[in-house]
Amino acid sequence: MKILVIGSGGREHALVWKLKASPQSLRIYCAPGNGGIAQDAQLVDLKADDIKGLLDFSLKEKIDLTIVGPEAPLAGGIVNKFMQKGLNIFGPAKESALLEASKAYSKETMQRLNIPTAAFEIFDTPDKAIDFTNRVRLFAAHYPVVVKADGLAAGKGVIICRDRHQAQLAVEDMMVRKVFGKAGEKIVIEEHLEGEEASILVVSDGLNVIPLASSQDHKRVFDADKGPNTGGMGAYSPAPVVTEEMHKRIMDEIIYPLINGLAKENKFYKGILYAGIMITKEGPKVLEFNVRFGDPETQAILPRLKTDLLEVCFASIEDKVDQLKLEWMDMASVCVVLSSGGYPGEYKKGFEISGLEDALWAGSPDTHIFHAGTKIQNSELRIQNSEKKYLTDGGRVLNVVSLGDNIRQAIDKVYKAVSKIKFAGIHYRKDIGHRALERYLEDTYMGVQAD
Ligand code: AMP
Ligand code: GLY
Repeated sequence: MKILVIGSGGREHALVWKLKASPQSLRIYCAPGNGGIAQDAQLVDLKADDIKGLLDFSLKEKIDLTIVGPEAPLAGGIVNKFMQKGLNIFGPAKESALLEASKAYSKETMQRLNIPTAAFEIFDTPDKAIDFTNRVRLFAAHYPVVVKADGLAAGKGVIICRDRHQAQLAVEDMMVRKVFGKAGEKIVIEEHLEGEEASILVVSDGLNVIPLASSQDHKRVFDADKGPNTGGMGAYSPAPVVTEEMHKRIMDEIIYPLINGLAKENKFYKGILYAGIMITKEGPKVLEFNVRFGDPETQAILPRLKTDLLEVCFASIEDKVDQLKLEWMDMASVCVVLSSGGYPGEYKKGFEISGLEDALWAGSPDTHIFHAGTKIQNSELRIQNSEKKYLTDGGRVLNVVSLGDNIRQAIDKVYKAVSKIKFAGIHYRKDIGHRALERYLEDTYMGVQAD
């Protein structure tokens, strides 16, 4: 069977790695992939948003299943185009992808379906938005407020504003100076929610859903959640903030109302639905919906999944999610992202990476390295020197993931592995998993069985 994975990050390397573990015999392609994925799949020199190129390739190669990593091709309608040609593809159609591609659409959908989320207003002219920032107290809350560009802005279009001045600056940046281009033509201003975040990913076939293991991302670049937001500096799974009771509430108050509500409107949501949740004092509220696997959540979740990923994808495509059973390792996993110095701002690329083998030894067993921004040093050099050399080639460079019997073991192990990896300017957070660890230590201290 031929499988195509679309994307080039750590998430896609984790997907490829998981596919490789399938009991079925697979030929795996990845477009465009990265240096690490090149060891596990055949790279295809097509960009993730080159829908026409990907379609032509899939028809020519008779690809049996395509798995889409990033949001851009989903928002661009890749699923619709592949399905029109009778190709199997795992993910939502363009209309459903609006849940991520338009924050205004997403908020209106939540309002219509009574799904708990931050109070909000939508604006399509700067004057009205500025006027609103002057009378925020009339709103559900007070400052801080969150100003969000409506469209896709590579995770950068969300600005938390402490006062009117910051809010007006954010509005002007988005709507007048157009720093996010078309994405900022419309904006959402919403109430700032307080609490702990969690990511709940579910698989849906449009009518039935099954949740994947819970996880928690670490979005800020520095320890203790300081510094600007990034694509994600690390994740762990499960997330103990999502207790059994909280999980039930998230499913009953958010996931089922969304999937069932959309189905009643003849909009059948297929693929992965990712709900970014804030667990507030009043209960779970949606921060955002994404229409794909999370990055880096996927790198933490998939190593715990025992079930074949192919089964998961085909259950969604063939409307059989009600028959899908997922099996999980009863272990904690922690993913630490190693990034280039300067990320998420400017950074340099092309530095040699060392210590990958040592890291796997140090974290053995159950440590994995998923590549993100890496490439293999030019092939001529490779011929002279049979050992593969990787160079940094992006902001987020590597993901190191370790499993442990509990969160403490997983954290100890992953940082032992991480300490072996070197490249110029390397940066990583030293506190990934700290919230889960605090809970674990508290439970252990209180004499509760925490494992
Ligand atoms: P989003 O892309 O909408 O998830 O926003 C990115 C990040 O900004 C979230 O993961 C939160 O950390 C933060 N954020 C977004 N909306 C809010 C909100 N209403 N209240 C507090 N934090 C938020
Ligand atoms: N972990 C955040 C995202 O995938 O959007």
